[in-house]
Amino acid sequence: MRADFPVQFDQNGKLRHFLTIQGLSEDTLTGILDIAHSFIDFGKREIKKIPLMRGKTMVNLFFEPSTRTRTTFEIAAKRLSADVVNMNATRMSTTKGETILDTVKTIEAMHTDMFVVRDRASGAAQLIASHLPDHVRVINAGDGRHEHPTQAMLDVFTIRQHKQDFSKLRIAIVGDILHSRVARSQIHALNILGVREIRVIGPRTLIPTDIETMGVGYVNNMRDGLEDIDVIIMLRIQRERMDGQLIPSEQEYFARYGLTERTLDFAKPDAMVMHPGPINRGLEISSSVADGNRSVILDQVTNGIAVRMSIMAHLMGGQEKSKWT
Ligand code: NCD
Repeated sequence: MRADFPVQFDQNGKLRHFLTIQGLSEDTLTGILDIAHSFIDFGKREIKKIPLMRGKTMVNLFFEPSTRTRTTFEIAAKRLSADVVNMNATRMSTTKGETILDTVKTIEAMHTDMFVVRDRASGAAQLIASHLPDHVRVINAGDGRHEHPTQAMLDVFTIRQHKQDFSKLRIAIVGDILHSRVARSQIHALNILGVREIRVIGPRTLIPTDIETMGVGYVNNMRDGLEDIDVIIMLRIQRERMDGQLIPSEQEYFARYGLTERTLDFAKPDAMVMHPGPINRGLEISSSVADGNRSVILDQVTNGIAVRMSIMAHLMGGQEKSKWT
């Protein structure tokens, strides 16, 4: 590996791994979204397979629990005809004293072609990618508080399905930004795609101190924060990553920052409601809003399959449509 280009790209500047949104170009993001769009129809076909990854083995290596992300990666890889191995490792071998790199190298010795990695440590996927042979691909499925780039891609895909022009959109991200790898990846993606405005809303204790340097404005209340907003992205309170008391009582948090029929009214009448899941009903969002007609939360899950297929296709060099149509 040469030191003068990030591990995510090969010597020719082509995407080799999918580790972060930061550092990607608008063309790369748009290319992934366009191909994902053509994959959407595959999910509706009777035979849902294309041979792009036939004979390849993808390993889902999850050191943190996950349902939707792991499952949609598995379905995406299977639709591309890959063989899939699921390892819900929860630091399995690592608890036996084996490091994460030893675990990955052991599995790689079985001639696997792609790793989808989730770990509680920021930078884990990057570390793994920089220690594997050139032909092996790595996708980051969430590393600590750092990034969750495929989630951000399916989120911007879902936004584009409903709102055509990014440059006109005002987007609010609400809640626990501090612990959210999803928010970080979303902010990068939305900035690269040129949205008009990004606002974060939440208690100051849950907002990174350097948030303004990411090209984002901060508002501490829902009434002002949601004014003129087209897209509301709610985030889960990530208790497992908190040390100490960062929010008041759950009731008070919900009263101030919860999305309910009442607070939704502060946004534009056609504002759409998103959440990466899992949702805490009654803590950050009311059931009536989560299940209501402005919510696209389940569309996000469905779109995750097509978007992850597209990302895998890009890494396998199969982004030219002629290879699979
Ligand atoms: C997110 C994650 O794991 O970062 N969930 C997901 O991938 N759908 C968000 C969260 O856990 O709150």
